[in-house]
Amino acid sequence: MAESMQGLKRSHRCTEVGASQIGTNVTVMGWVQKSRNKGGIIFVDLRDRSGILQIIFEESDCGAESFAKAEKLRSEFVIAVTGRVEARSGNENKDVVNKNLATGAIEVRAESLRILSESETPPFPIEENSKTKEELRLKYRYLDLRRPDIQRNLILRSNIAILTRQFLAEEGFLEIETPTMIKSTPEGARDYLVPSRVHPGSFYALPQSPQIFKQLLMCSGYDRYFQLARCYRDEDLRADRQPEFTQIDMELSFVDVDDVLDVNERLMHKLFKELLGVEIPQPIPRMTWREAMDRYGSDKPDLRFGMELKDVSDVVRDCEFVVFLGALEAGGTVRGINAEGQGAMPRKKIDALVEFAKGFGAKGLAYVAIQPDGSLKSSFAKFMTEAQMDALVTAMGGRPGDLLLFAADKNKVVWDVLGNLRLELARQMDLLKKDDFKFLWVTEFPLLEYSEEQGRFVATHHPFTMPMEEDWHLIDSDPGAVRAKAYDIVLNGTELGGGSVRIHQNDIQNKMFEVLGFTPEQAQEQFGFLLTAFKYGVPPHAGLAYGLDRVAMLMGGCDSIREVIAFPKVKDASCLMCEAPSPVDIKQLEELGIEVSEAGEDA
Ligand code: AMO
Ligand code: AMP
Repeated sequence: MAESMQGLKRSHRCTEVGASQIGTNVTVMGWVQKSRNKGGIIFVDLRDRSGILQIIFEESDCGAESFAKAEKLRSEFVIAVTGRVEARSGNENKDVVNKNLATGAIEVRAESLRILSESETPPFPIEENSKTKEELRLKYRYLDLRRPDIQRNLILRSNIAILTRQFLAEEGFLEIETPTMIKSTPEGARDYLVPSRVHPGSFYALPQSPQIFKQLLMCSGYDRYFQLARCYRDEDLRADRQPEFTQIDMELSFVDVDDVLDVNERLMHKLFKELLGVEIPQPIPRMTWREAMDRYGSDKPDLRFGMELKDVSDVVRDCEFVVFLGALEAGGTVRGINAEGQGAMPRKKIDALVEFAKGFGAKGLAYVAIQPDGSLKSSFAKFMTEAQMDALVTAMGGRPGDLLLFAADKNKVVWDVLGNLRLELARQMDLLKKDDFKFLWVTEFPLLEYSEEQGRFVATHHPFTMPMEEDWHLIDSDPGAVRAKAYDIVLNGTELGGGSVRIHQNDIQNKMFEVLGFTPEQAQEQFGFLLTAFKYGVPPHAGLAYGLDRVAMLMGGCDSIREVIAFPKVKDASCLMCEAPSPVDIKQLEELGIEVSEAGEDA
């Protein structure tokens, strides 16, 4: 029978009990990690969110009734124990000190025991570094959340949130909530929709971010705003994406790019210093988008290793290799990377790299393996003179034992292929250390991107991003060349956050909508309230939002954001535990005036 608290009070968490309490009485409560009955003496590892404490039951200390209860203890029973703190068994025997436990030098000799709740055998063991399949763990997430590694992650996440609030409050930011039932807008990812009962046929959207509302708060004079904001995006999930996630969202008035970067560098410095003891160099280095693409083939370069891209177009311009010449003639480039020390890579592995590259749109991958004696093995040597080959190797900084890999195509393809190949090689070569933190600001993103799918330009960041003054004259003649006052904060190849200076002039904003293909009526219909607000005095403003989940994932050294979210969703956006989404009662649908088509049911 489960007992109740009846006035009993917990005095300490398990690992709060230490050598300084030796000789005193404590009351601890938690879950039985394991229980070993050695006949006449029972050892119990008691677990709570702080860690593990060893309890010893002997009938002479705790009496017959408690001892009888102790004999029944099994894993995951919830118990309360009052007892005396002692040095581990006599203390003359040093071997009994368990260095793996925070409380390894002491134990509690039980004087009384209450079983607060019993437990069935859990479907998987509650232990660190679980080998259990993730699906099973997510189905029983409340048990999975008892595991020490997940608990550490959520404690870290909580500390990140608390410190962020503290820091931003000290910097003069106000925490203001914005609505999560808003108007649907067509830009960005797909919206999650919520049907309205009162307005049949009309829908709220869940916000993809508080973007418009935070800009309105600037119009209202709040000056410096932040929020830990839940955001919703109906997009394909990956290891660093969830359909609902949390942003550390902020907006500042009367500022330019440098002001936003400065306050955020100090925020990151504080978080890393106080939570990990890691000193982030200040200021965080900056790189323009174009430089990042040219050197790393990515707008979120991982700077933990080199292997930079080199443009060798000019070196190969006079060769006879049609693959290279064709790409150059079509206005593309030939670029390469040097996988140092990989010259002996077997043909099979190189072929696998070619397949990997094809997955990113490459038509092929040309290579040169520099042998230890300096001779070359290459897929295209026969189209090159010896002098041309030498020039190529020199341009790539190739030395005996190196492997040079080249892609020839349109810039966009070459960047994507080599950028990803660079990361794949770094993984294979074990160059990515989780406790090495390399921050970077990527700045001057293109304002617009051409979408082949939609046959028009779309905003790279969002339609409210300020163009760079010096490029604005190109907006009609060469829209793709206009750079934006936009920046991303990148850590170890992950985009932690992004933001921009916003347009606060109606004429520029209207022009942006025009370039994005909105008629004035459509712009008015979608964003009329923002455009109107801007007519009544709007300060220059700028902001940024981090993915809090990503910050926690990287700080915690995790491979997936699911490891830092209490109740995450899986790849198909469902929750394995509560089984959302689910069909609803026909009555609910009728009230909402919604009929589900057969196609909808099949999908
Ligand atoms: P953006 O769309 O770049 O900018 O989002 C900001 C940050 O949010 C995180 N993020 C995600 N995290 C988990 N799962 C997702 N599906 C997901 N999508 C985005 C990323 C990203 O860097 N309103 C602007 C910010 C601004 O301009 O101030 C915005 O939302 O870490
Ligand atoms: P092919 O002429 O298609 O047999 O290709 C000759 C070599 O060039 C092979 O090693 C291909 O993998 C490589 N190759 C083909 N297309 C490209 C490309 N766009 N960039 C780099 N190498 C390529």
